Amino acid sequence: MTPYWTELVKRLTPYVPGEQRSGNDVVKLNTNENPYPPSGLVVQAIADVSPDSLRRYPDPQSTELRKTLADYHSVTIDQVFVGNGSDEILALAFMAFFKGKAPLQFPEISYSFYPVYCDLLSITPHKIPMNSDFSLPLTQLGGDCGGIIFPNPNAPTAIAVSKTDIEQLLQNNSGTVVLIDEAYADFGAESVIDLINQYPNLVVSRTFSKGRSMAGLRLGAAFASADLIEGLCRVKDSFNSYPVDAVAQAAGIASIGDENYYRETIRKIIATRERTTELLKAQGYKVLPSKANFIFASPPDGDAARIFTELNKRNILVRYWNKDKLNQWLRITIGTDSEMDQLMEALNKLHSDS
Ligand SMILES: Cc1ncc(COP(=O)(O)O)c(C=O)c1O
Repeated sequence: MTPYWTELVKRLTPYVPGEQRSGNDVVKLNTNENPYPPSGLVVQAIADVSPDSLRRYPDPQSTELRKTLADYHSVTIDQVFVGNGSDEILALAFMAFFKGKAPLQFPEISYSFYPVYCDLLSITPHKIPMNSDFSLPLTQLGGDCGGIIFPNPNAPTAIAVSKTDIEQLLQNNSGTVVLIDEAYADFGAESVIDLINQYPNLVVSRTFSKGRSMAGLRLGAAFASADLIEGLCRVKDSFNSYPVDAVAQAAGIASIGDENYYRETIRKIIATRERTTELLKAQGYKVLPSKANFIFASPPDGDAARIFTELNKRNILVRYWNKDKLNQWLRITIGTDSEMDQLMEALNKLHSDS
């Protein structure tokens, strides 16, 4: 360890993303990417970006993109923020709303980036134990805290909570910011974006990475009262004025403009998710009810580590955490029907051989 690092950097434990192995024979079901390409309009918009708009800095306010998102979600432009992926928006939100406050509450099983941001920003995490069926411990959240955050649907469990339950939480905790991370809400959970007019403490983050097949472009959005959005802008403009480049701005606008393609992609993924769930259950797997583009499943003998390793050897990548409460489970991204058939074929073989 070099002496030039700060004490903070020495003690960080950074987030570890899923493996990005490439090759035609890889069945990649480990990072919740969309198996379908982005809309043709997105590809065209990227091709149409003029050299001049690359020479110049992009619009620091992403005005046209924010206006497009505002119209799409029936909110006003000052209620919309965009960033370099929703991960960046989450980091800015942690700085704007949670740093320097009482401990931040989140479910003990949820997105593993939250504790990493806490570490980086010296925010005390307060992890709330899950209900025994892995559902979100909503009634345990709130009270004396500096903020609340959770994904809906949750990751990696894929279980969603209702809008009514979130509304109750917002009412009971009007003194603190409640951040609902809707990275996977495209796949069937109820969005709470339309509650931002009623609840000045609500922030909703969304991403173009999952439902809109644009993970490689890095684009996310947040929706909240104009006051909270201004807080995010103050942090952004104290850090990086141009987080969303000209290409991403053009591509984001084009994606929102192709509603039919988006709906059709989501429909296919949901159909494949339901089919795969039934097939896994028929194999004796436990599968939690999913409203996401992934499923959380436990093999009949609970030996998820073996299945993970054996699939990996066959170039089929899924996600496994060797951690308490998670180590009997696999998180499996929903791919195309053909990719899921390859997965099921490999699993059938592994289970019949053992
Ligand atoms: C729960 C959750 N939130 C946020 C993100 C970040 O998404 P992105 O930075 O690609 O917008 C992810 C990515 O996997 C996620 O799982």
